Amino acid sequence: MGNHNQPIGVFDSGVGGLSVFRRIRANLPHESLLYVADSGHAPYGNKPAELIARRAFAITEFLLDQDAKAVVVACNTATAAAIARLRAHFSIPIIGIEPALKPAVAETRSGVVGILATSNTVRSDKFAHLLDQHGHQTRVMVQPCPGLADCVEQGELSGPHPRVLLERYLEPLLAAGADTLVLGCTHYPFLTPLIQRLAGPEVAILDPSPAVARQLHRRLETAQLLADGRAVGGERYFTSGAPEPTARLMARLLGQPVTLEVLPERFR
Ligand code: DGL
Repeated sequence: MGNHNQPIGVFDSGVGGLSVFRRIRANLPHESLLYVADSGHAPYGNKPAELIARRAFAITEFLLDQDAKAVVVACNTATAAAIARLRAHFSIPIIGIEPALKPAVAETRSGVVGILATSNTVRSDKFAHLLDQHGHQTRVMVQPCPGLADCVEQGELSGPHPRVLLERYLEPLLAAGADTLVLGCTHYPFLTPLIQRLAGPEVAILDPSPAVARQLHRRLETAQLLADGRAVGGERYFTSGAPEPTARLMARLLGQPVTLEVLPERFR
């Protein structure tokens, strides 16, 4: 049985998973955290599922090499492509993320919910299953958003490029009366101010990352793996891509300095 003060590993195709990472940090201040941005292979949203699964395995191996006691797949696309196989293969707790359809269906007053996600997520069997479970009483409009995660990767959170894309993606949802939007990609919470501006103040925007942080907390508690309350939670950041300008972007998104290490060659 491992040491409670072992780190928790978190990964995404790039910087998007930081929207989950920051919630984990807020909820679990004593935990040591490792973050891997697979920027050398981003975006995942349009890549073959097999490649995404291979990357998820390589990164999980790396995190285990770093002694991780749990892994958070902070990416809807990688969760859809690989979580079942990761869980079958590795024995540590592996927490994934999926679009917050269930709370959206509970909250909508207009009866129309819009989901924004990557093309791969909306094509996946896991997503079809989610729709099947929760999408019956409500009209669920599914909007793939090619290019949107890339805007965040390029640090464009409010300029003309994400605005034009979002106007196009939101138009059919808003025209149909959607009053609840589900952010089905971990990059999109960084675009929330722009999405809210375009959708209007009445539209609710749901980000599942607080629920993921709570779920991680519960899993660690049940497995008796929570760090002890005297531990100081450190952070290390890794990338499979070029460390600059990603380090600067990560620092901007987190509002704190980030030192980025390059993932060892065999995991790249
Ligand atoms: N952040 C990822 C997600 O939650 C994927 C973005 C991408 O790489 O296309 O789906």
